[in-house]
Amino acid sequence: MTLIHETDYGTPARVSETLVTLEIDGRAITVPEGTSVMRAAMDAGITVPKLCATDSLEPFGSCRLCAVEIEGRRGTPASCTTPVAPGMKVHTQTDKLAKLRRGVMELYISDHPLDCLTCAANGDCELQDMAGAVGLRNVRYGFEGENHRAAAKDESNPYFTFDASKCIVCSRCVRACQETQGTFALTIDGRGFASSVSPGAKESFMDSECVSCGACVQACPTATLTEKSIIEHGQPEHSVITTCAYCGVGCSFKAELQGTTVVRMTPWKDGGANEGHSCVKGRFAWGYATHKDRIMKPMVREKITDPWREVSWEEAVAYAAERLKAVQAKYGRGSIGGITSSRCTNEEVYVVQKMIRAAFGTNNIDTCARVCHSPTGYGLSQTFGTSAGTQDFKSVDKSDVILVIGANPTDGHPVFGSRMKKRLRAGAKLIVVDPRRIDLVRSPHVKAEYHLQLQPGTNVAVVNAIAHTIVTEGLVNRSFVEGRCDPKEFAKWEAFIAEHRNSPEYLESRTGVPADQVRAAARLYATGGNAAIYYGLGVTEHSQGSSTVMAIANLAMATGNIGREGVGVNPLRGQNNVQGSCDMGSFPHELPGYRHVSDDIVRQEFETAWGVTLDPEPGLRIPNMFDSAHDGSFRGLFVQGEDIVQSDPNTNHVTSALESLDIVIVQDLFLNETAAFAHVFFPGTSFLEKDGTFTNAERRINRVRKAMPSKVGKDEHWVACALATAMGYPMHYETTSEIMDEIARLTPTFRGVSFEKLDRVGSVQWPCTGFEDDDTGMAIMHEESFARGLGRFVITEYVPTDERTTRMYPLVLTTGRILAHYNVGAQTRRTANVAWHPEDVLEINPVDAEIRGVKDGDMVSLASRMGATTLRAVISDRMPAGVVYTTFHHPVTGANVITTENSDWATNCPEYKVTAVQVARSNQPSDWQVDYAKNDVERKRIAAANVIAAE
Ligand code: SF4
Ligand code: SF4
Ligand code: SF4
Ligand code: FES
Repeated sequence: MTLIHETDYGTPARVSETLVTLEIDGRAITVPEGTSVMRAAMDAGITVPKLCATDSLEPFGSCRLCAVEIEGRRGTPASCTTPVAPGMKVHTQTDKLAKLRRGVMELYISDHPLDCLTCAANGDCELQDMAGAVGLRNVRYGFEGENHRAAAKDESNPYFTFDASKCIVCSRCVRACQETQGTFALTIDGRGFASSVSPGAKESFMDSECVSCGACVQACPTATLTEKSIIEHGQPEHSVITTCAYCGVGCSFKAELQGTTVVRMTPWKDGGANEGHSCVKGRFAWGYATHKDRIMKPMVREKITDPWREVSWEEAVAYAAERLKAVQAKYGRGSIGGITSSRCTNEEVYVVQKMIRAAFGTNNIDTCARVCHSPTGYGLSQTFGTSAGTQDFKSVDKSDVILVIGANPTDGHPVFGSRMKKRLRAGAKLIVVDPRRIDLVRSPHVKAEYHLQLQPGTNVAVVNAIAHTIVTEGLVNRSFVEGRCDPKEFAKWEAFIAEHRNSPEYLESRTGVPADQVRAAARLYATGGNAAIYYGLGVTEHSQGSSTVMAIANLAMATGNIGREGVGVNPLRGQNNVQGSCDMGSFPHELPGYRHVSDDIVRQEFETAWGVTLDPEPGLRIPNMFDSAHDGSFRGLFVQGEDIVQSDPNTNHVTSALESLDIVIVQDLFLNETAAFAHVFFPGTSFLEKDGTFTNAERRINRVRKAMPSKVGKDEHWVACALATAMGYPMHYETTSEIMDEIARLTPTFRGVSFEKLDRVGSVQWPCTGFEDDDTGMAIMHEESFARGLGRFVITEYVPTDERTTRMYPLVLTTGRILAHYNVGAQTRRTANVAWHPEDVLEINPVDAEIRGVKDGDMVSLASRMGATTLRAVISDRMPAGVVYTTFHHPVTGANVITTENSDWATNCPEYKVTAVQVARSNQPSDWQVDYAKNDVERKRIAAANVIAAE
């Protein structure tokens, strides 16, 4: 259990090799140079009253409450803004200071509503605390003068209120929005007595630029900015440290509770990935965990047209096992398989893949990473020798040039996006490679030097053209390449990349990017100092996804931008545990730790540990499972926490494959789209009910802890163990930590990981091989040599995608996600986040809209060779002419009805980012949507019936 109130040191910690010794209230204290007197006092165990200072923000010096006396100096300087000096003698408690502080507090309190007993912040209010600390006993000025006590409340934000009557204008919120979040949504409007906090130009929070990260709410020392959940429930009485279950940033949170009711999620200051910051999803969008749509009891049915029947866990397991065994008896061992989920913990994923391999006796196991970052795994292991990003997030603080390709960090990875923006505001240069003008290209105090607005599908051409410039203009870092890379492979690559067909000029007509822009960006990347690459699904979800990953790795090696802070190749992982689900052996060709199933020694190790014979042949990937379902050889599927109907491309192909299966087992929180095709449904658990670990995009293994007991009465891994046992392979773990111990024994990169260690040290970054507490793994990879020894340059020939625009389908559709929602939206759609994004929309360039007579807000049909849907158009100059964009957060949109089955040549990762489409005005839903609506009515009826029965 963790304290609700953490110590606030008043100002941020400073790092310096120079130490300064001073004396505070007679106590000697030594601190790093640059430390404030306030923080030094705190380090010495002396608390100085404060209101405008907090240790997550730079000092501001406005409230004057922290005044101190310093021998030899005149006046009473603010201790928060005064840095320490050698030999300084400070007094924090004198009569003069006490009088001064009381005077300050009198002024604040004279303009403050005195409703402490009924205030939501009662017990968590710094103003209240300071009144006590300074010994305030009366207010000489009275309460009747001019004041702000009648100021209006702004309740427009779904998650927090702004009660201006309680504002002390300390500016902490404004500074949090600027310094921590980087949105600059708040200002102090007016001067002196008339000054007040204003979102935007006197707008409501909801209408302003605010992105609801919650940083201002956290920084506010009074009840002015307060979570609505706290107003509703009151103050928490205990907290549990856990990890956000949304994106791959992996933010640590204090789940603050009353009993087993979560009343607030507060980003944890000591969280390795987020250091006390959050985004709207992790901070506020956790209500889905207790949503009424959750299915609480196992259900079975004979046919997918039958109604569901609630049964006991044991009956559901026996039923599933019997049907799986019957399928295997008739069609062979390889006729069944499973899919693991990147939303589940490492331990849950591990047991499912073990169940498939050991109990089902097949390697037909794949994961949702197939459809997002599988090219990262392939590309980085080919070039560097390991399937993971090279840096920790902190590394970006040392970058001089940041190259963002096919990623939208401020929406997809918001907390890291804020960190990146901070570095950019401090002077780092930015290059963005993206067809869409993402926020980073132009946001407050951030402007990209170059935005290479390429045609979707030409990533390899652009990255090759950058490399061509570097090679032909003599910008290769020869000493790095000669010392660290395979010389033969480099020579081949150098000759290839120098060919004219890879030049920016030759490729300009394909990529749409002016050659001079490519050349200038290449020069900046190669010569601008520490240069780091961050990329996302805009790189991987292409027919040349793996080639682009390798082209990026080539760039980093050619310029020596690998193996130290500030540089590197960084895949921004989509889901919370994408890295972990891949690490845990979810791919059909790899056992945990990325070791090939055909490797006899590795297989033997697992066979000995698991007591079974394992198949040496790789199994089916997800798309192969669908194809084999169509040809009748694949007949049974276990799906863990994944909605493949909504998330995988070419929906019609996926649903017809599922319809043809004899047995589909789904484990999830909700009756998702895939459950419509299931015969057995096992209720899953939310992250608040889980015990285990997630691994984030920087390979950081974070603990996930139970904030509340399982609402369905079972831990999620119980199902895999029980099903394996019923299939004839006994599997049982007394505790979740036993699973991690087994993972550590069998996975070299996890050897030093255990729950005990994580509980002591917080988090570790794999590879972590030592058992000692000071081995917290590797923050930066490939420092001395690459994981594979010598770095390998790979030839990356640009091959245009098969998906071509035609007269019938003249536009290119590219897809992505937005801040408020997460993936298929199963969680965020069940929260107030829908206020920001109630439907998926189609962003279309003004020129393309005008040609089609489309006005902003019109309903339009979006059609490809695969299918059609209807959605609302939003005219936006973020899109270049010829390219349209949408998201896939709402199932009724059916964005993946449109996408094709084209996929990455190496990994089968779908080409979500390039689909030839046509857009036309329309006033009716597509045929697919009509069908969907019919099924949805039925699904809701079943869910409602189940909920009633469960209650
Ligand atoms: S809203 Fe809170 S943080 Fe912002 S100025 Fe007012 S009291 Fe300070
Ligand atoms: S919630 Fe975040 S973005 Fe909105 S005003 Fe507060 S700090 Fe700024
Ligand atoms: S969604 Fe991502 S950035 Fe937001 S709080 Fe969760 S882990 Fe952090
Ligand atoms: S805390 Fe130092 S001036 Fe406010």
